[in-house]
Amino acid sequence: MVSAPTGRIAAPRLVRLLGAWHAAGRPASSALVSALRLLVLDGRLPPGTALPAERELAAALGVSRTLVATAWEALRAEGLLRSRRGAGTWTALPGRPRPQDPPQDQPLDLARAAPAALPAVAHAVDAVRGDLAAELAGHGYHEYGLDLLRERLAARYTARGLPTTADEVLVTNGAHHALALVLRAFTGPGDRVLVDQPTYPNAIDAIAAAHAIPVPVPLLEDGWDLDGVAAALRQSGPRLAYLVVDFHNPTGLLLDAGGRADLTALAARARVPLVVDETLAELDLRAAPPRLAPVRGPGTVITIGSAGKSHWGGLRIGWVRADAEVVRRLAAARHAFDLGSPVVEQLVIAHLYADPEPAIAERRAELAERRDLLVGELRAHCPDWGFRVPDGGLGLWCELPGPFSSRLAAAARTVGVRLAPGARFSVHGGLERWLRVPFTLPEPALAEAVRRLSRVASVVGGSPGSDGEGLVPVA
Ligand SMILES: Cc1ncc(COP(=O)(O)O)c(C=O)c1O
Repeated sequence: MVSAPTGRIAAPRLVRLLGAWHAAGRPASSALVSALRLLVLDGRLPPGTALPAERELAAALGVSRTLVATAWEALRAEGLLRSRRGAGTWTALPGRPRPQDPPQDQPLDLARAAPAALPAVAHAVDAVRGDLAAELAGHGYHEYGLDLLRERLAARYTARGLPTTADEVLVTNGAHHALALVLRAFTGPGDRVLVDQPTYPNAIDAIAAAHAIPVPVPLLEDGWDLDGVAAALRQSGPRLAYLVVDFHNPTGLLLDAGGRADLTALAARARVPLVVDETLAELDLRAAPPRLAPVRGPGTVITIGSAGKSHWGGLRIGWVRADAEVVRRLAAARHAFDLGSPVVEQLVIAHLYADPEPAIAERRAELAERRDLLVGELRAHCPDWGFRVPDGGLGLWCELPGPFSSRLAAAARTVGVRLAPGARFSVHGGLERWLRVPFTLPEPALAEAVRRLSRVASVVGGSPGSDGEGLVPVA
């Protein structure tokens, strides 16, 4: 809680921010309360902003001083304003949690779609102690990755329908590092990189950090616009294409076998290497799915994978699967970044991939339960949000009843919920009607997060039947 003002807003500017606050058919003081509450909750009036004196603001608004005083009294009671003789009145965020709310120093994090480690990870950490002695006797630098892990990852690809040998696998520090390496090896400043839109935000950042230019091809409501991809390949001359076709982040969409064949044919014809991010590929939540094989050529296909979502992101282990020649090129590019991935973490994943199915099945079951709970909670508490229930992946891509995703994300912070608004998933911003809601938190935390979101959404989005009266923000 801010105990003294740290900035000031002049009366004319506050009047402009308040805009058309005076709602017809509603007491003026309650309309002023709602309008100012919204400014504080969505971050346009940051905590610690000193407000003009009541008399000055009343004159600027053309209302009585009593009306302003009444509204300020109500906002003080909510914890959104504080006053002290001599220091005036300033904005604040309410600090007292209600008894049933979890502690606010641990925000409910819906900005990251990343589950906690499976218990199998801790067991694997214990199990690899015995294997460590042999590694400790060596120098520990393996720029391609440990042979054991490369072999086991290759075996998993083969089992999934894409015959692979160990020399076609490069171990990396997560899928994100894998993409950075591919960009380093395949693109230069000013090159274009075709991407889905929406897409994984850190991929957009990695492309920008490589001084390349992302060229977005918007997804259709139910899948990939392959005509759009063909046109972008023709018109933009990209150096690389980066797509997430398995339980796409954020939409959860899956490109079917026919679509995969068409996509690779298009990229091969345009001679554009295709980077397929398979980070979510193992997270197929269907009971009896027709599992699709990983994307394969014609043409150059570079597959990026990760143990981050299936097992645990904290291990920071990912990989690239590509022709041995491409793998050599990436290992050479790696020297500018790092000199290999941590050995103990690789041993842990190698242990888990000796028999990968049980742990992955456990993760799928956990995520399926959480997805179903989130679907139920959103239908109950946010009935005007639209979404498709995805067959896999880590989140729901929700269509909000209005363009307020960023405002909702700002307001959600005040109730201890972190969100990544739709604009984060877009190359040029926008997507304000969209919000990704991951189902990676445990069930009670997910239910609590939705309850809090529904309260702030009714204020920020002004959903029918609610003007936010009765909102009790908790952080
Ligand atoms: C599509 C996609 N690619 C890459 C990553 C990053 O994976 P890692 O933690 O292995 O770097 C994520 C994480 O959410 C992702 O969703």
